[in-house]
Amino acid sequence: MIWWVVSGDRVDRTGQIIGGRFRIDALIGKGSMADVYRALDATTNEFVALKILRTSLDGDPAARQRFTREAEVQARLRHRNVASLLATGVTEQTEPYLAMELLRGKTLRGVIKREGQLEPRRAASYTWQALQGLAAVHAAGVLHRDLKPANIMLEPSVGPTDRVVLIDFGFASVEGSAKLTQQGAIVGSLSYIAPERLRGEEIDQRSDLYAIGIILYELLTGELPFDAANDLDLVDQHLSAPPPPLGPQFPPAFAALIERALAKHQEDRFPDALAMAAALEAAAVELGQS
Ligand SMILES: Nc1ncnc2c1ncn2[C@@H]1O[C@H](COP(=O)(O)OP(=O)(O)O)[C@@H](O)[C@H]1O
Ligand SMILES: [Mg+2]
Repeated sequence: MIWWVVSGDRVDRTGQIIGGRFRIDALIGKGSMADVYRALDATTNEFVALKILRTSLDGDPAARQRFTREAEVQARLRHRNVASLLATGVTEQTEPYLAMELLRGKTLRGVIKREGQLEPRRAASYTWQALQGLAAVHAAGVLHRDLKPANIMLEPSVGPTDRVVLIDFGFASVEGSAKLTQQGAIVGSLSYIAPERLRGEEIDQRSDLYAIGIILYELLTGELPFDAANDLDLVDQHLSAPPPPLGPQFPPAFAALIERALAKHQEDRFPDALAMAAALEAAAVELGQS
């Protein structure tokens, strides 16, 4: 017997069996379109993360299509710094779901909220790992398009640093396939959005690198480089304001790196994720000397 408790958009799915295989244990995350649960996979006896399209969006063809695209995209990606997909399907109530490896740490959003700015070495390691994952995403012909701290998770590891994992390919686009987003529609968070998108120009890999630049700035300082009380001012800052200086406590290489990552035009940024990762590695060496 499965009990349903529905209040507004909330469904308590605890105890439900999904796809004849995954037993829902607890709600662990909520995004804009989906709920994420910890569930026990009966075929492996291991916990997984089960992302289920929110019931209120189930009848929305665009949301379903986007969710299907998300699963297709994630299925193409295999990298230590990208969440791996285990299975996809639909629930008995027809909501689509996808099962992924369960990450046991917090999102970077949670880390920033709790700890504020991070020690530069740690910020550099997290960002470097995110760039490695992003390089694999780009190599597969995919743009993430929604990079932000809430879409980057940590997996505690026995090594010197947590494993950083990119999640949420809900807004990702695949080279050569039809665009799901309406022309001119803006997806993703305005705090991490690249200027070319605001100018209505073509986006590319370097637009994802801009978001990583914002995230690095946030990890280093505990603050967003561009922050305004209203969206119009925020857009204006992305388009024309230089990021506030990092401060003298950081080696100059960090300031140079931020400046390049947050350049207003793609051609002035790093050409790709690995180039930015290499620059970050070089900058981090200066930390050791200071
Ligand atoms: N593989 C995972 N392991 C653990 N928690 C996850 C996992 N994937 C997502 N979450 C949690 O669920 C939240 C929402 O997931 P996300 O994929 O970002 O959904 P949305 O597309 O709705 O934003 C994340 O911010 C995170 O807290
Ligand atoms: Mg998300």
